[in-house]
Amino acid sequence: ARLVVLVSGAGTNLQALIDASAEASYGAKVVAVGADRDGIEGLARAERAGIPTFVRRVGDFTSREHWDLTLTDTVAAFEPDLVVLAGFMKLVGSPFLEKFAGKVVNTHPALCPSFPGTTGPADALAYGVKVTGATLFVVDEGVDTGPIVAQTVVPVHDDDDVESLHDRIKLAERTMLVESVGRIAREGIAVKERRVIFGR
Ligand code: GRF
Repeated sequence: ARLVVLVSGAGTNLQALIDASAEASYGAKVVAVGADRDGIEGLARAERAGIPTFVRRVGDFTSREHWDLTLTDTVAAFEPDLVVLAGFMKLVGSPFLEKFAGKVVNTHPALCPSFPGTTGPADALAYGVKVTGATLFVVDEGVDTGPIVAQTVVPVHDDDDVESLHDRIKLAERTMLVESVGRIAREGIAVKERRVIFGR
């Protein structure tokens, strides 16, 4: 399966996918990496692995829709079987989701439907939950609302700050992402009502 991965930051989730796909038996390969900003470690990781990269910055376009259409065309040119949003800090729009219907997954550092948005680890800590985690889901039009592919749980420690908690989440998140993306690549998924079922 051909993966296009979109990133906005450190790219540790991307790196885990690149490393996993070194084994042919994994069943998926990162064929391109895109970003919404320049100069990030995620792009450098792709370049070091010899993977083509592209940057599409919202600010360079006259409208958000134009950005979305261009992003859609750019990703489509790589003919992905699956698009993985791995720490991509932009919401993709309707044209993108229509083009890649059911084939876009995102990883979120909280247990959906709790703590959606960009501050999941901080919100979990502030709320005082004793467990949190990460969620892989099929992207829909909402913010972290799509059908759930997989979840992984981590404890919240008494002495955690946002960074230590997010670091623990990211460790578990990477394992979940690699396992689930491989399984999607090898087995396929279908969404029935809200439930994600593996298999073709
Ligand atoms: C991940 O925890 C992701 O879920 C969140 O931001 C982090 C990205 O990490 N939205 P990285 O860029 O993959 O290292």
